[in-house]
Amino acid sequence: MKILSIESSCDETAAAVVEDGRKVLSSVIASQVSEHIIYGGVVPEIASRMHAQAISGVVSKAMSDASVTYSDLDAIAVTYAPGLIGALLVGVNFAKGLSYSTGLPLVPVHHLRSHIAANYITSPDLKPPFLCLVVSGGHSHIVAVNDYTDFKIIGRTKDDAAGECMDKAARAMGLPYPGGVNLDKISVDGNPDAYKLPHPHVDGCEYDFSFSGLKTAVVNVIHNAKQKGIEINVPDLGAACIETVADCLVKNTVKAAEEYGFDKIALAGGVSANSRLRKRMNDICAEKGWQLYMPDLSLCGDNAAMVGAQGYYEFKNGNIAGLELNAYATMPIDEINR
Ligand code: KG4
Ligand code: ZN
Repeated sequence: MKILSIESSCDETAAAVVEDGRKVLSSVIASQVSEHIIYGGVVPEIASRMHAQAISGVVSKAMSDASVTYSDLDAIAVTYAPGLIGALLVGVNFAKGLSYSTGLPLVPVHHLRSHIAANYITSPDLKPPFLCLVVSGGHSHIVAVNDYTDFKIIGRTKDDAAGECMDKAARAMGLPYPGGVNLDKISVDGNPDAYKLPHPHVDGCEYDFSFSGLKTAVVNVIHNAKQKGIEINVPDLGAACIETVADCLVKNTVKAAEEYGFDKIALAGGVSANSRLRKRMNDICAEKGWQLYMPDLSLCGDNAAMVGAQGYYEFKNGNIAGLELNAYATMPIDEINR
């Protein structure tokens, strides 16, 4: 079964053709990073406009790279939630137009579900149930993936997402957008013990996260140093910040896996590209004898191949939308709501 998939939830316009949820026949990504870099973050209005300009060419390229025509396809999958509403609407409306003109079924895909499904592409042997740590710019969830379309949130952030915390910390250190990636690169050889940062935890909610206090602590370290005329060591402060985030993410995931009896753990979302997080997770899973699944680095960030992977399982489960399909800025991963 071949699915054309479309993703436009944030600052990447992407399209892919995926076979049977696992085999990527083509994957095209038009990144907007160079447009947003001067603002230090994604400007939603610019993102929508850039998606509208790029989408037609990106979809055409995905089709020609896969050497398919619309008559070779079985469905069109599209990210419909959560994300920037104006950005999502571009992909949803384009997919609706294609569905109407070709008669192909329209499959709505939840963005975080598709991040999890990136693992199905990288690891063809991976099947639910497993426990997944989903960490992106807007979300930090520990999710029980009971089946391909059956999810239960076990833990979540009470305030900022892990990616958001690292992006803001990076910005305060003077690093360019996208902050998390640049923080990762610059702090590879940093000493995480050079700065003492608070280790946030949420009283009474052992699987939940809280990252806003950590973000503020990093900003305070920078302000205090400035007032005293002391130079900040960016690689060290970056390493301390990432290590603290990774420590919270890993500890809570391990607790959840032990409590809920999972021995298969997956990572997903943009932050799953982080080198310290990948290493920490790898080490603990090796120690516990658990199987660890991580998306290939090329599949950690936003892309449409992962939408095609999840779209296949949504389609098989009968999740098909009509032309009244809307986009939603927020939507829980364990809810289907249109
Ligand atoms: O999943 P994603 O591409 O978009 C959302 O759905 O939010 O995640 C983007 C987030 C950003 O916060 C970005 O800084 C972060 O993922 N990120 C990283 C790394 N690569 C991307 N954070 C830390 N280390 C990285 N290597
Ligand atoms: Zn994402």
